Amino acid sequence: MLGKIFSSFSAKKDIAGLDVGSSCVKVAIFSNEKSGKKLKTWGHIPYSVPANAQPDERKALISEEISKFFKKMGIQTKYVASSVSGNSVIVRYVKLPKMTKKELDLAIKVEAEPFIPFDVNDIYLSYHILNDSVQEEGQQKMEVVIVAAKKEVVNEKIDIITGAGLEPAIIDVDSFALENLYSKLPGAEKGKSVLLVNMGNKTTNLSIIHPGTVSTPENPIAKDAPFNPYSRVVRDIFISGASLDRSLSKILSVTPEQAQEFKKGIRLLINDEEKLEAIKNYDKQLIVSSKAAITIFKDMASEISRSIDFYLSQGMDHSISRIYLSGGLSATPNLCAYLSGEFKIPVELMNPFSAAGETPKNMPADIIPSMAVACGLGLRELRDWQ
Ligand SMILES: Nc1ncnc2c1ncn2[C@@H]1O[C@H](COP(=O)(O)OP(=O)(O)OP(=O)(O)O)[C@@H](O)[C@H]1O
Ligand SMILES: [Mg+2]
Repeated sequence: MLGKIFSSFSAKKDIAGLDVGSSCVKVAIFSNEKSGKKLKTWGHIPYSVPANAQPDERKALISEEISKFFKKMGIQTKYVASSVSGNSVIVRYVKLPKMTKKELDLAIKVEAEPFIPFDVNDIYLSYHILNDSVQEEGQQKMEVVIVAAKKEVVNEKIDIITGAGLEPAIIDVDSFALENLYSKLPGAEKGKSVLLVNMGNKTTNLSIIHPGTVSTPENPIAKDAPFNPYSRVVRDIFISGASLDRSLSKILSVTPEQAQEFKKGIRLLINDEEKLEAIKNYDKQLIVSSKAAITIFKDMASEISRSIDFYLSQGMDHSISRIYLSGGLSATPNLCAYLSGEFKIPVELMNPFSAAGETPKNMPADIIPSMAVACGLGLRELRDWQ
């Protein structure tokens, strides 16, 4: 399933997945080999923008970092796939009167308007038909996913890309890039609904993936059955890395920038042994920082629960079998164990490179999960772009 908002792509070969986040840019370029996709180049480019920088200055600074990286690595391709997320992007799953694709192309603005909290003139609108024949209240309807993104956020990405001397082939949605990545993960289980949580700096993307066909004890999924998972709940929340920076900066009386660095060294104390050990060592910083982090992750867990309840209330499956974490903040030690204790289901870190060969040996372990969106973008197939 594709959440393409903007596309100017004509069949060119190499596409760079370019995730321009609020704290760093991630790049993933894959080549098409006979044996499948293979990672060609990757990049993790942290940048810092002065707090008082004007929007144009900010864009120019990020473009320059990207351009420098492409030059340094000798990257030939000019075509990039990037994505947007946050409160200027809305994804809605709706039922509309049954009509042909042609009719919907003409009617989409009018049909989408009641579901979109923005002026339709200020947005790029895109849609995808999930099911063209459902019955509701005796009427023939169709299930459609509508994606609306404010033009200003899409244009900002386009400006950054063109400012770096590159061409935006497609602007996607973070959660759809993650869905694409999940569909290629070797560990993905057919027949099971899963939840993806991408914990970034400003935004955390939540998405619940329906497996296409649900496996039940009465109807188990055949091993060779096709695997076409697709998102059914897509929601962004704003409990993320920066929330923890703010909390730590208050508790430790340091600047948010210092807190951001400090955060990379913290760990969650999740059992009595670990807590006692920290008390025995008089490690006050560890104790207070773990407490602050657990408060943030508890808030995040209650938002995740709301999304799970919403999904299950629609009757598409009766459980979520696993949670996959990605994004920079997910590198926090003990986080998987903590969330697994909260939800009583397995929680694991996503390794985006497992979808295409080996993880680069020179990549620091805590960077791996933050590469998920870039990999999901870079791993799109050619047919996805048209
Ligand atoms: N080892 C680590 N442990 C905990 N947090 C970390 C670690 N490394 C990075 N982070 C945090 O992860 C966040 C960056 O993650 P990511 O690169 O996924 O975000 P982003 O894409 O820039 O942000 P967004 O998607 O919200 O715009 C920052 O808040 C950063 O401080
Ligand atoms: Mg991000």
